[in-house]
Amino acid sequence: MTVSFATFDRLKSKGVAAYQNGDYLASKTYLVDAAGCMLDMAAAARTPDARRQHEELAEELIELAKDCDRLHAGGRHGGMNARRHEGGRAGSARQGVKEDEGGSDASDWIVKDKPNIGFDDIAGLEDVKQEIRLKMIYPFQHPELAKQYGIGVGGGILLYGPPGTGKTMIAKAVAHEIDAVFFLVSPAQMMSKWVGEAEQNVRKLFDAAKAETTSVIFLDEIEALVPKRQSDSSTVMQRVVPQILQELEGFDRGADRALLFVGATNRPWMLDEAILRPGRLDALVYVGLPDAPARFRLLEIHFGDRPIADDVDFGTLCDRLEGYSGADIKSIAHQAAQRPFLEAIGGKAARPITQADILAEIDETPPSVNPSDLARYDKFVQGRK
Ligand SMILES: Nc1ncnc2c1ncn2[C@@H]1O[C@H](COP(=O)(O)OP(=O)(O)OP(=O)(O)O)[C@@H](O)[C@H]1O
Ligand SMILES: [Mg+2]
Repeated sequence: MTVSFATFDRLKSKGVAAYQNGDYLASKTYLVDAAGCMLDMAAAARTPDARRQHEELAEELIELAKDCDRLHAGGRHGGMNARRHEGGRAGSARQGVKEDEGGSDASDWIVKDKPNIGFDDIAGLEDVKQEIRLKMIYPFQHPELAKQYGIGVGGGILLYGPPGTGKTMIAKAVAHEIDAVFFLVSPAQMMSKWVGEAEQNVRKLFDAAKAETTSVIFLDEIEALVPKRQSDSSTVMQRVVPQILQELEGFDRGADRALLFVGATNRPWMLDEAILRPGRLDALVYVGLPDAPARFRLLEIHFGDRPIADDVDFGTLCDRLEGYSGADIKSIAHQAAQRPFLEAIGGKAARPITQADILAEIDETPPSVNPSDLARYDKFVQGRK
């Protein structure tokens, strides 16, 4: 996989954001991937100094990933997880994955969890939730009826849309709603030479998921794994793309065991068209920016447990937040809460968060998604009609 600084930066930012959100499992995957990118960049560095700097940065990221393991182990409440391992992937990575062990080594890079986020925790996106209920949840909850009407259980969907709109949350909620084991894998890790041959990794992932009664495989940044097949794409990609397509087609949709596949991407136009054909990822679901009722709900979610002054008016804020993503609103709530918090730390009397705090924060924070990005999604949707 070609490693660019942009890829590294995106993975690192996602890792840090997930860490700050307390989502240590996701954070660990991103941080390890970011470290992997850094090591690849170190290998390609032109000067010894640059190489050392890259290696040091990779080490720091791996340390942070190890913290994630510890924090997750400390904060887990009866959840399940992949076999614990010392030192994250890095330790085993450079030795490569031992084969012929029934894929157990895959636990170093496949994160397995039982999320406890439900559809009720997700603000808005009602049409998205409904589409997913129809395609993935109802057939599963009513197997007899589904069989009678010839509706298959399982299958794949692609969630696409701007960053921070709740795609990862939805994937977790699907697993929660049907009490499935959630497999979180990032393409960079799956493709990494550290964890063995990419094709074997694809097989291990699907085998591990098939071994569970109900499972959801979530592949974030799926365009990295299934990119448009260009003549210059690497030979690994040329072998891996058809293999994934085959695994997706091989779902046994009538069986007692159900395997759901959820892919997510911010850049659907970079995906190989073949994966979007019926029988593979059969539903393409756009996860867009929150509408006004969803923004209102997001304000309730993120200010719900914080002290707010009587002058705070969610209606006005909701209008001001048009164009902001769920993640943006979460961050604004956090920043606004910091204002009175820092004052109180500085010795002032503790006071609630005011409308002025929140408006000032909105003024200082532009929306993370800009209109030209949105136009690009529109164009993609139009192109598929
Ligand atoms: N619709 C929503 N309801 C509730 N919270 C939301 C919603 N959208 C975003 N958030 C908040 O923003 C954070 C980031 O959301 P999430 O990781 O699901 O976005 P994403 O669409 O997967 O982004 P990316 O494309 O960058 O991976 C969540 O942890 C959540 O707190
Ligand atoms: Mg995501």
